[in-house]
Order: sequence, then structure tokens, then C-alpha cells
Amino acid sequence: MANTAPTRQATTNHEGLLAWVDEVGALTQPDAIHWCDGSAEEYDLLAQALIDAGTFERLSDVKRPGSYLALSDPADVARVEDRTFICSERDSDAGPNNNWRDPAQMRETLGGLFRGSMRGRTMYVVPFSMGPIGSPISHIGVQLTDSPYVAVSMRIMTRMGQAALDALGSDGEFVPCVHSVGAPLIDGARDVPWPCNADNKYIVHYPETREIWSFGSGYGGNALLGKKCFALRMASVMAREQGWMAEHMLILKLTSPEGEVSYFAGAFPSACGKTNLAMMVPALPGWRVETIGDDIAWMKFGEDGRLYAVNPESGFFGVAPNTSALTNANAIDMVAADTIFTNCARTPDGDVWWEGLTEAPPAHATDWRGQEWTPDAGRPAAHPNARFTVAAARCPSMAPEWEDPRGVPISAILLGGRRASTVPLVFEARDWEHGTFLGATMASETTAAQTGAVGALRFDPMAMLPFCGYHMGDYFAHWLTVARREGARMPRVFHVNWFRKGADGRFMWPGYGENARVLAWVFRRVAGDAEAVDTPIGLVPPIGDGGIDTTGLGIDGETMATLLEVDTAAWAAALPEIRAHLARFGDRLPSELAAQMDELERRLAAA
Ligand code: OXD
Ligand code: MN
Repeated sequence: MANTAPTRQATTNHEGLLAWVDEVGALTQPDAIHWCDGSAEEYDLLAQALIDAGTFERLSDVKRPGSYLALSDPADVARVEDRTFICSERDSDAGPNNNWRDPAQMRETLGGLFRGSMRGRTMYVVPFSMGPIGSPISHIGVQLTDSPYVAVSMRIMTRMGQAALDALGSDGEFVPCVHSVGAPLIDGARDVPWPCNADNKYIVHYPETREIWSFGSGYGGNALLGKKCFALRMASVMAREQGWMAEHMLILKLTSPEGEVSYFAGAFPSACGKTNLAMMVPALPGWRVETIGDDIAWMKFGEDGRLYAVNPESGFFGVAPNTSALTNANAIDMVAADTIFTNCARTPDGDVWWEGLTEAPPAHATDWRGQEWTPDAGRPAAHPNARFTVAAARCPSMAPEWEDPRGVPISAILLGGRRASTVPLVFEARDWEHGTFLGATMASETTAAQTGAVGALRFDPMAMLPFCGYHMGDYFAHWLTVARREGARMPRVFHVNWFRKGADGRFMWPGYGENARVLAWVFRRVAGDAEAVDTPIGLVPPIGDGGIDTTGLGIDGETMATLLEVDTAAWAAALPEIRAHLARFGDRLPSELAAQMDELERRLAAA
């Protein structure tokens, strides 16, 4: 097919950027180069080109106005952690948490793969700001990509186009990000709807030179390089050097019945309901949750010594399955229009569907592989990692200040995992150092869905295991170091667990909107208005006055007591696993955390 993509010339006098675009163009040999301006017209032109190429299908203007469905290649459906590399000069700087490759060797490998990789395609120059344009907390990147799907997605997920280019000026700093799906169209070869190079995926970060190179995949975090690659892996390296924090955290605003406001950040591993928490509709009367971000927080110190956070993204790339009016009503409203769906099922009336969207499935659908599907097909209609990509501006629960260039001051950091036993509904760290220890030892229990022993602990420190761009022992040290900055007023740290199960195997806590009761206790603690009981693991809410408000909840006192119980025997039994986990970080484990480990053991023994 003829290349129908638009082309637009450079509108910058940034010589470094112009030279780099020339250099990558010479290497990858695209047919044309298009500098994205980020306009709505450009978005529509690219969407039309994607329809012409068979990548996009326009959804019903009645059911989902302005929305598209893309079905990926079945070999390109998720982030590929085993193909993600940190190429620091020294192996030891990547740490046990990353795949390391020698940068010189990797450059050679990638040089071969990228040579001519964009032939027959257009290379899009995508300037973007992570964070509000012009904010002192923001940073700029430029992605070169041969995927128009990526270009339109980047317009939703970041502040993309001329405004970012203008902010860069003639000599601003940017993180260069090069992306190719690795499927050149040679001698007029026909394109496929989802080009990729499934056998040669490389998601590569060079932390010292701050470059990102991604080859072979067009999906999500592999390809939208502003998100995990830049805003977490590269930004974590920058944050360490520059004295700030780049974290895999949601940001929410909580308003009390008295109209007082607090902002919380929260780190949870995947499948723990992060997006739902960020968009929660509280079940506790008078309280209000508003959204700042659902995935990433960049936090820098303000003059008052507090950490101020921005959401570096401007959209949501959320998992569709199990998103429903019951689990996340705000997300359902948000994706009603102007949304790109990927790997969802399509219904005969031109709408999308996924497991959990409605109680009753549609009688017929086209599944994510484009095949006829009925409820008795014995396979899911939507891929389990099917996604929606939608602008944050469409989310009804966004806080008005979500784009405030100053960021929002964070009062509390929530940490959480999925723990059927042992870990109480909520407890508070004694201080920042103890909070860092709680983050470093965060874990979820494996379930029958994973291979290996059911109930074994899987550690995911600060939910950053796949996203920390350097040695995790050094990352723990960074958490301790930032707090020693003169005048620093760190957030309080809390650990939550919505997933504790009773003897009958059922969740004891109702979750979702009822989680507001826990948020309210955290809020009152931070304000100095709630009580806590000192235990060997930290500070736990008392039952009754000064504790968690259970009015109207219908949970009996005994269940509440179990939810808040500190099972010292179970904690003591888990100690060897926690020790073994920390031992992975060898001599880069800060001595403060080793001391925290000893202290915990001592307190449990004394209990
Ligand atoms: C994500 C993830 O997609 O954390 O946000 O995997
Ligand atoms: Mn995430």
C-alpha cells in the first residue's frame, strides 16, 4: 500500500535534536519523516491512516464516539521483562533486579537491527513533556518511531507536539528515545495490521548516556517510551543523581467532610487495584477522592521541605478486563468516548467488550484475535492484558489541580500487596527509615495462577522491581538519603492490605469504595487526630474510638479484630524469607535496613 501518512517539517532550531534526527534517519532509512505538532487534526489524519492500514477499526459513533479498536499480533501483547535491558557501564550497577548487557556489545547488536529498519515507513518525531509543560518537576523526551499507533497513543499519554518542542527551546535537555517495530517494508511489500518483530524484541536503556532504544514491539510499555522506560527506569536514575524521587505510584487527593485536603501517593504491584483506588468513589459519607495519577509519581522537594508530586503522564493506559461500573465507575465514564482500545473484543453493534464489563456476556462477539466468539467458546473474548488508552481530561474524578506545575504536597505514602494472611488491613511505619524497610520488603503471595508454590512470597520492593533503572540496593539507599536533606519533611508511610482472607477462604474486607475508611484513618493520623497501637511491626489502628470508622459497614467486631490483628507467630515464620530477599542486594543493602531487620526480629521475639 502507498504510504498515506502525513509529513511535516521540523519547526525547531535545536541543533542537537536536528542532528540526532538526521543521524537516526540515516541509520533506519525511513521513506519520510514527520515532525508531530500534537494537533487534533494530526491525530485524526493518523487515525485515518491507521484505519487505511487495517490497524484501527472505528467503533460505532453512537456507542463509542471518537473511539478505535486495534488488535495486536498475538505475539505482541504485553511488556517483555526478559527482553528489557539496563546497559550500564558496569554490570554491578544494574543490580540483581535487572538484565544487564555490555553497552558496547548492545550498541553493536542494535546497530545491526536498526539499520534500514524503517524502510518503507514514515518516521514520526514525537517531542513530549513528562509532567505539565514548563513545570520544574517535568522533563522532556523525544521519541522517534515508525509506528503511527505509538504516535497517536503518545498524544494521549503525554503532552506531545509543538508545545513540548517550544519548551525545549534551542538547547534544552531531552531524553532521546528511538523505537522501531522492526518490520521494514522492502520492495513495496504489503504491510500487516500490527507490524512487529516478535523474535527480536529489545527494550534497552543506557543509563549513563540517558538513551532509550526499543526494537520489535509495538505494545504498551515496550513502545510508548515515555511511560515505564523514561518515567520510571531512566527517571529513577536521574532522580538519584538529582535528589528527587521517580516512583511507580498513584497520586490521589482526599477531602474530609470538614473540607480539609490531603494528597497521598501509593505503590502497589500489578493486579492490586491501583487504578481503582486512584479513581475511587468512597463509600464513607462526606469523604471525597479525586485523581491526580494512577501509575507514576515524580516528586521533588518544595521550599518548605515537603515532597511535591506530579503525574508525569496525561492519560491512562489501563487494563480493561474486570473494569466495570461496580469496580471503577469513573473509568467506565471516562472510556465512553475518544478512547483507543487494544485487544478488547468487538460486539456486533460496533462496541467493545471485555470480561467483567457486564455480568452477562454478549451472545456473539469478535474476540481479540479477530475470531468469532460466543460465551461457550472456552476462551476469553478480550486478552487479559487488553487496554484502554484515554486522556486524563476525560476522567470525571480528576482533581482540578492535577496539572498544577507546582505539583501537590504528599502527606502519606501507601504501600500494599496482596496478602491472604499475616498482614493487617493497615499499619503505619514508625518513621521514614522503617517506612523504607516496609517498602523494601513489600510482597504479594503467589496464587494458583502462578507456577511454583501457592502462598510463597513474591517480593516487589516499592512495586519497582521491573522499573528501577539501577541496583535496587542503591535505590533503597537513595530513599534514605533524600530524607537527610536539610529541612526535609517526609511523608508518613503506611502499609495496607485489602486482601486478607478468613478461615472460609473469603476476603474479609469488602474493598473498593470501603477502602475510604482506611484512607480516612490515614488522613486523621497525618492530621494528628487518630490513635494507633504500638506493635512489633508498626502502628496499628485501635478497635473503636480513634480507629477505623466502621459505621454502617456491617462488619462485626471479631472480624475487624482479625483484620487488624498482628499475628506475631506468622510474622516470625516469615522472617527467613524476608532476610533471604534482602540478602539478594548483597553489600549494597544499606546498613540501616539490615538494622531494621534485626529490630523487627528482636521486637517479635519479645512480644
Ligand atoms: C502497568 C504495569 O502496566 O505496572 O502499569 O505493568
Ligand atoms: Mn504500572
